[in-house]
Amino acid sequence: MSEQRPINVLFIASEAAPLIKVGGLGDVAGSLPKALRKILPAKMKGRALDVRLVIPFHSAITQRLDSLQLVAAFFVPHPKGKIAARAFQTSVEGVPVYLIEGSSILSDQSVYSSDPRVDANKFIFFSLAALEMARAISWPVDILHANDWHTAISVYDLKIRRPQDPFFKETKSVLSMHNMPYMGAGSESVIYEFGIPECTCHGLPEWARNIPLPLGMFAADYLLTVSPNYANEILTPQYGCGLQDFLNSRKETVAGILNGLDETKWDPNSDPSIHFNYGPAQLNIRKKNKLALQTEFGLDKDENIPLLILISRMDQQKGIDLAVQGLRLVQDLDWQVIFLGTGDPIIEAACRSLEVELPNRVRAAIRFDLNLSRRMYAGGDVLLIPSRYEPCGLTQMIAMRYGCVPLARSTGGLKDTIVDDSENESNNGFLFEEASPEDFATTIRRAIEVFLNRKSWQLLQVNGMKSDFSWEKSAMEYSMIYQKLLGEEA
Ligand code: GLC
Repeated sequence: MSEQRPINVLFIASEAAPLIKVGGLGDVAGSLPKALRKILPAKMKGRALDVRLVIPFHSAITQRLDSLQLVAAFFVPHPKGKIAARAFQTSVEGVPVYLIEGSSILSDQSVYSSDPRVDANKFIFFSLAALEMARAISWPVDILHANDWHTAISVYDLKIRRPQDPFFKETKSVLSMHNMPYMGAGSESVIYEFGIPECTCHGLPEWARNIPLPLGMFAADYLLTVSPNYANEILTPQYGCGLQDFLNSRKETVAGILNGLDETKWDPNSDPSIHFNYGPAQLNIRKKNKLALQTEFGLDKDENIPLLILISRMDQQKGIDLAVQGLRLVQDLDWQVIFLGTGDPIIEAACRSLEVELPNRVRAAIRFDLNLSRRMYAGGDVLLIPSRYEPCGLTQMIAMRYGCVPLARSTGGLKDTIVDDSENESNNGFLFEEASPEDFATTIRRAIEVFLNRKSWQLLQVNGMKSDFSWEKSAMEYSMIYQKLLGEEA
């Protein structure tokens, strides 16, 4: 009976760890498909989930893969003549992965370029090619699950094809938004060049009718964000990027599912890049990592001085300027801070100038250094996350796993994962409301006061270390949405 065929999910993304990772999306695309494939058919009315990942064959991937199989050579429609594409298959941790190759995915490009047209050309080609590939390998797609603006056009194109294309007639679509303000603006002419029909898109504001993300949002059968709180926030003018009215009009098909953390990859008990491994019952061992970190950065070696850390892409979104200004307001207190990250030169410069101003207690490591980040999680006392908005955020979860207490702005997924309430037995961090240096500073004072009380601090650390951030629960929630769309509610 057809009921017994697995539910086929084509998971399409611009990046996926460990093959290629630039940001948080890469972590999610690298771990969610694996978690979904682990759901037992017994929990799915007898149907397993056959989730397959498709990503562009970025040049950075080329050198690393030796076990590739060419599975399809096909064409992507284009008004000026169809464009040849090829799909190669590999497998990563049990997940089948397709890599799409074609002239628009040039071999000398980085994953994301600063030129919107170059990116538009690559990702719109890729979005259309993923659909053509499914047809070429005769793999009926039950659920097309796209992510962010880069792949949103696949969802829009699906909606256009569906009525007259028997292969996609029954395919349902889900679009996950990991960072809504990045909509793919600048792609307008490329959309037109690919012959993608214009959208009358009732309900979408006019400015949004030829931009990839809004088109995908319009077309998707289900819209998801990466935390429940962010899903509520985008319904408001403050976070809705001008699309809040549209989102409110389809509120019943908008939801937020919290990202998980690949807990095997982030475990202070076994992490080979930290000096001393430890678990929740060995916080005294953890202290040695702090002293090692202070030594590494030439800071005073003193376990009683709170060591603040900030690990982030240096982007306006992340509110690092609020932290830099806020720290100036608490100079009367004893603390040290280490910044790690790269990005916007203005933000990098702000971190460097604080280092010049307060050379005894500030260090700015302006680079991308994964191993250092692990040593920082293992040795820092407080992770600062002053984000202006945060669809989910991964660093707070990593920090908690490592016994580093998060101090974050109360927004998006940060609010869903951090409990700041001394009466609550899950209390595990500090939250501040306003995106202002003053509110940040007040909360630093509060955190340092608790830090000085060893027992209370350890409770926060242990609560964080014991929090469950595994993918299992979230994967079940995704599967329920897939089933709902297929009319197979469990
Ligand atoms: C984006 C968001 C971040 C989220 C990640 C993965 O990078 O900014 O909040 O955790 O995507 O979903």
